[in-house]
Amino acid sequence: MEQPHASVDGLKREIGIREAASMLQEGKLVAFPTETVYGLGADARSDEAVKKIFQAKGRPSDNPLIVHIGKREQLDELVSTLPETGRVLIERFWPGPLTLILPHRGTVAPSVTAGLDTVGVRMPSHPVALALLQEAGVPVAAPSANRSGRPSPTEAEHVWEDLAGKIDGLLDGGPAGVGVESTVVDVTEKIPILLRPGGITLEALKDAVGEVRIDSGLHAEAQRPRSPGMKYRHYAPNGEMWLVAGAEDDMMRTIQRLADDATAQGRRVGILTTDERLMRYEADWVISCGRRSEPESVARGLYAALRRFDELGADYILAESFPIDGIWFTVMNRLQKAAEGRIIHAEESESS
Ligand code: TXA
Ligand code: MG
Repeated sequence: MEQPHASVDGLKREIGIREAASMLQEGKLVAFPTETVYGLGADARSDEAVKKIFQAKGRPSDNPLIVHIGKREQLDELVSTLPETGRVLIERFWPGPLTLILPHRGTVAPSVTAGLDTVGVRMPSHPVALALLQEAGVPVAAPSANRSGRPSPTEAEHVWEDLAGKIDGLLDGGPAGVGVESTVVDVTEKIPILLRPGGITLEALKDAVGEVRIDSGLHAEAQRPRSPGMKYRHYAPNGEMWLVAGAEDDMMRTIQRLADDATAQGRRVGILTTDERLMRYEADWVISCGRRSEPESVARGLYAALRRFDELGADYILAESFPIDGIWFTVMNRLQKAAEGRIIHAEESESS
């Protein structure tokens, strides 16, 4: 691998927490590690600073950002009310991979909330993120630190690939432990609504607050592949990716058959699987994202595996599917998005 450079086009890579905190206070853009994925931070109170995030990422301006805080007291400056369910979830899961949607009180820049009357807030648990946020003392708006549409960055190197030359600083904290983004929950209604599955599972949320509804958008994405509701391309590798569903044997047989067909057509084929099955396939590239026997490892390795296919130049990618309970629900949500809704049901395709 190429040696990391200390700076290119004004991006300082080897900065410390102090320097990164000063940069945030000065309205600069700093990428930093969190336990989920790397974030691209700016002072959430400055419209000018936040707008630079959208530019650097190439992100549509109608997609609101999450505000990160390092101390519980900062929440009171951001939101007008904290419902009981929100209080319970904070007690249980902060600091950690949970974002709460709450009514804001007009203290963050309009570009953060995309004009909504709510704001997403989270307190990350990564020690470097917490130290940075506490040192900076300002609320920090931070989406994932990738170019819009690409898989989220779980290592400093991924941020470098996507954003060198477009941001001011990059704080390196090693690989992210969770590997998928925070769970987003709207607590403005009586029954909390899950908007995005993430590092905290639906089961854990229900255990804390009882009933949790699932946003209709999540069902729509799963049931109506490639629907217009799936507004933006997300987490997607460059190659055409297909998620293959079905009983284990059907799924594996179908993946191999599709890979063989595509290879015969001259395509450069990648298969996304787990450690346990690496030897069961033949294609140009067979890549593991973790161990099926340890779902957290799959969440942790997923985005790096998707990026690897891009590096290798795969133009057709077949991905195994997983169960839908616990953290698998999050993994499957990201795989569906990466595949832009392209799903093949193994048995149907076998009989056709
Ligand atoms: O783990 C994470 O959450 C990472 C790290 C850096 O903290 N951040 C992240 O940010 O994933 P981003 O911008 O990639 O995703 C923010 C999500 C989007 O789905 C956005 O639509 C939603 O949060 N969101 C933000 N504010 C919202 C609001 N007021 N109402 C509804 N959804 C909101
Ligand atoms: Mg993102």
